[in-house]
Amino acid sequence: MATNHASALEGWTSRWTFVLAATGSAIGLGNIWRFPFIAGENGGGAFVLLYLVCLALIGVPLLVAELMLGRRTRHNPVRAMQYLVKESGSSRQWVWLGRFSVLAGFMILSFYAVVGGMALAYIFHAAFGDFAGAAPADIVRLFTRLQADTDGLVVWHSLFLLLVVVVSMRGLRRGIERSIRVIMPLMLVLILALLAYAWRFGAFETSAHFMLDFAPEQLGWDALLDAMTHAFYTVSVGMGAMMIYGAYMPPHASMRVSVLSIAAIDTLVGIAAGLIIYALVFAQGLDARSGFSLMFHTLPLALGHLPFGQFFGSLFFVLVALAAWSSALALLEPGVAWFQEATGWSRAAATWIVALGAWLLGLGTVFSFNTWQSATLLGQTFFSWINFISSGLLVPVVGLMLGIFCVWVLSAQASAETLRFPKPVWHQVWRRVTGTVAVVSVLVILVMGVHGYAVGMCGGNPGLPWC
Ligand code: PHE
Repeated sequence: MATNHASALEGWTSRWTFVLAATGSAIGLGNIWRFPFIAGENGGGAFVLLYLVCLALIGVPLLVAELMLGRRTRHNPVRAMQYLVKESGSSRQWVWLGRFSVLAGFMILSFYAVVGGMALAYIFHAAFGDFAGAAPADIVRLFTRLQADTDGLVVWHSLFLLLVVVVSMRGLRRGIERSIRVIMPLMLVLILALLAYAWRFGAFETSAHFMLDFAPEQLGWDALLDAMTHAFYTVSVGMGAMMIYGAYMPPHASMRVSVLSIAAIDTLVGIAAGLIIYALVFAQGLDARSGFSLMFHTLPLALGHLPFGQFFGSLFFVLVALAAWSSALALLEPGVAWFQEATGWSRAAATWIVALGAWLLGLGTVFSFNTWQSATLLGQTFFSWINFISSGLLVPVVGLMLGIFCVWVLSAQASAETLRFPKPVWHQVWRRVTGTVAVVSVLVILVMGVHGYAVGMCGGNPGLPWC
C-alpha cells in the first residue's frame, strides 16, 4: 500500500522540473569550490576516478534512499519518519532521522549563506578590477580584509539570504520552480562561456591532463576519505533536502532516470569547474595544491594577469553565486516544510522565520572570522563547531540511519513499490549496495571525521585526555 497521506505541501509541476531543481540543489559550492581543490590536493585525475567510484557506491544509493522516503510519504522529513515508523512498526527513535536531517540542513544553510555572500562580494571585486595586475600579497589582503570587515560580511550574508527568501516565500511552483528555470540555463551558458575562455586563454591541455589522467600512485587514505565525503555531500544527501524534494516528486517520475541525471550533470559540472580553474591557474604557473584558498586567492590572482580577466572573473563569481543560490533554496526547504506542517502557518511566514533563524546562526560564522576569532572552545571557533556538528556529525549520522532504515527496517516490498524500478534486479542491487558498502563507508566517514577533528584540537590543547 502506498502511503500518500493528505499533504498540505505542493508538488513539482512535472518530472523535469523536479530533476532540474534537484540538480540545482546538487550543483553548489561543493562542485565549484570544493571539488576542484580537493582534486588538486589529491593529485587530480586519480582522485576524480576514485570519486566516481564513491559516487556510484555511496552517493547514488543513498540519494535513491532519501528520495524514496520523501516520495513514499509526501511530507517534511520529521512527519515522513513519523508515518514510516507507524507503517513499519519500528522504534519511534527513527524519527530522529527526520529531526537530524532538518537540523543539518538548517545549520549548513547558516554558513553556506556566508560563503554565498562572499561570492557575491567577489562578483564586484572582479568587476571593479580589484584583481587586475595584483600581486599575491594584494589578493591575500583583499580576502583577509573581507573576512575582517564584520559589517560588510553581515551585509553580504543578509543579501544572500534575502535572495533565497524572496524566491522561497512564493512557494514551490511560483518561487523555486520559476527561479530554477532561469538559474539552470544561465549556469549552463556561463559554464560554456568560461570553458571557451579557459580554452582560449588558459593552459587547457595541462588542466585536462591534470584533471583526467589517472595516476594511481597519488592515491592515499586521505584521498579516499575526501572522495567518500564529497560523493555524499555533492548529491545533497543527509540534509533533508532530497527527502523534501522527493516528497514533491510526481508519482510517474522515473527514479532511475532522475537519479542518474542528477549525478551525471552534477559530476560534469564539478569536472568542468576544475578544468576552468586549473587552466587559468596553470596559465599563470600557479600551484594546484592551494586547497581551501584556491577560489579566493589563486584563481583571482590568475585572472588578474589574464586578458579579459575582469569580465570573465565576474562571470565566474556570478556562476558561483547562482550555484550557491539554487543549493541554498534546497537547504532551506526542509526547515520551511517542517515549520509549515508543524504550525499550519503560511508558506511566507514559515520561510521568513526559518531564514531568520539561519541568518542569526550565520552571524556566529561571520563573527568567527573577526570579532570572535579568539573566542574559542577547545581551540575551535564557533564556525568550526557548527561546521563539525552539521557536516561532520549530523550528516553522516543521517546517512547511516538512511541506509539502515531503508534496507534493514523498511520492508523490501515497501521500497520496491515506491522505487518502481523497471527490473527487479536493480532493486536487489540497490538494497545490497546501500545496506552494506554505503552503510559501512558512511560509518568510516563518521569515525574518521570525529577522530580527525579531535586530533586537530591537540595542537592548541595538548592537555586534552585523548591527545
Ligand atoms: N550539493 C551541494 C553542493 O555541492 C550542497 C547541498 C547539500 C545543497 C544539501 C543542498 C542540500 O554544494
